[in-house]
Amino acid sequence: MSASVSDPESQREIRKRRTFAIISHPDAGKTTLTEKLLLYSGLIRTAGLVKNRRGKAATSDWMGMERERGISITSSAMQFPYKGAMINVLDTPGHEDFSEDTYRTLTAADSAIMVLDAMKGVQAQTLKLFEVCRLRGIPVLTFINKLDMPGRDPLDLMHEVEEALGIQASAFNWPIGSGKEFAGVIDRRRDEFVLFKKTAAGGAHQAELERYRPDDPRLAARLGADLLDQALHDRELLEVAGNAYTQDDFLAGKVTPVFFGSALTNFGLEPFFDAFVELAPSPGPRPIDLAEGGEGRVDPYGEFSAFVFKIQANMDRRHRDVISFIRICSGRFTPNLVVKHHRLEREIRLSRPHSMVAQDRNTLDEAYAGDVVGLIGRDLYHIGDTLSVTGGFTHKPMPAFQPEIFARIAPKAPSLRKRFDKGMKNLIAEGAVQLVKPVDGSHDSIVGAVGRLQFEVLQYRLEDEYGVETRLDPLPYECSAWLEGDPKTFKPTTSCLMARDQRGRLLVLFRGDWDKRYAADQNPDHLLLDFA
Ligand code: G4P
Repeated sequence: MSASVSDPESQREIRKRRTFAIISHPDAGKTTLTEKLLLYSGLIRTAGLVKNRRGKAATSDWMGMERERGISITSSAMQFPYKGAMINVLDTPGHEDFSEDTYRTLTAADSAIMVLDAMKGVQAQTLKLFEVCRLRGIPVLTFINKLDMPGRDPLDLMHEVEEALGIQASAFNWPIGSGKEFAGVIDRRRDEFVLFKKTAAGGAHQAELERYRPDDPRLAARLGADLLDQALHDRELLEVAGNAYTQDDFLAGKVTPVFFGSALTNFGLEPFFDAFVELAPSPGPRPIDLAEGGEGRVDPYGEFSAFVFKIQANMDRRHRDVISFIRICSGRFTPNLVVKHHRLEREIRLSRPHSMVAQDRNTLDEAYAGDVVGLIGRDLYHIGDTLSVTGGFTHKPMPAFQPEIFARIAPKAPSLRKRFDKGMKNLIAEGAVQLVKPVDGSHDSIVGAVGRLQFEVLQYRLEDEYGVETRLDPLPYECSAWLEGDPKTFKPTTSCLMARDQRGRLLVLFRGDWDKRYAADQNPDHLLLDFA
């Protein structure tokens, strides 16, 4: 595809983009780290945690910004400049908000930051999200957080990252002390000891740094003999035994650069953020399917193209919009742009009612490859839809993610069956939940999701948009897998359920992980896949 964002200014803008998502287990410190990125970018002047209405930590400044903009900025993407780069942080909700959107958001990212709690290491939800990064070839940087608390041995944590994720870990900085003694980090690339001065207000302001050469005589006085000895010993050990790092291996997902710090006290953040901007890639070519057959790649500096990665219904009754978030993969977006909607086989103008909400609901007037834009328009967009100026190709289809909760759903009033069916058809096509049909026809249609919130949204939208109240009966299955191999020779477990997903592929529902592992053991000639 020929390059067509030919003006140097637009090319510079695209090169500046760093579009990433944070993957972590709840409570590892994602919110705090994001807030501190805003602090270090100068977007907020002070950081201080307050509880918002849902009991989750957020900052007062940050929440004020949300109020001003009239939309939850945490619901999509935040954009702000940091030292010459333009940062796009994509939100990957955790906790009870965890849903297929969390996974899908990763498909819109060019890199990911994995935040680990130094006490807990790699936890379940991190593993799942990492798996998606691996599947999509998204390079991952690792930030090991909460070094201000007594935690595990840093070497131990590095090993766990390698073992659990099957990736090499290369330390970019190394902690000097931990817990109350956490004094700084060794910046391994510059071979400097970076020491922190404690901030008076416990992390409300940027931490001041002092940089020393390792042989600086002042270090002994600053750190004390024991801490300095330990740090010099660690530095030597890493020189000999540490993993090498190359940018190519990082981009290929073979190695993750590791950083240690404390998001709460701001220790180690600036060196990490600076390294992130340097290492994380700007938007690159993306794989596409050509309409005439075959595959290709879209050039980020080419004509405008984008795909829909997330559809969100505003649950707030005062703003009843359904917003479809697109990730721009190539070119420049301006209001009133006329694009081809590949699935609908028609042209649409991206103006009102398709107003933009990615950054500022009213004033966004241009966006570039790497950016996220919100479009308003019901029934127009499905997950995975491609919009482009030239037409003739689609971005690769969105993968489906293993549903982990299942339920039967039916209209409360049988007379509303037709309306219910229509609503279900639209919402399933849009990607709100997955439809699962048992092969033996024993149940009515079953819906599957990766998080409970998806069912709540489904019920809410059926009532709000289609006027149908529904009854939801949960089913006792807790995980599933797509079956690859001859179904006739597959030996199912007694409690599993064989079904087909909406694309007709065989999906096996299990009562639990144990059952699933047992089925895998019993069927060595078949594959049980978590993504399809
Ligand atoms: P999440 O978005 O990943 O769920 O995590 P979040 O940032 O909300 O942090 C979870 C808890 O961990 C919060 O404490 C937060 O203050 C704390 N935390 C985050 N980073 C650090 C760190 O570097 N060191 C220490 N010691 N704690 C950290 P909380 O008690 O749940 O909330 P709050 O009462 O402090 O607001």
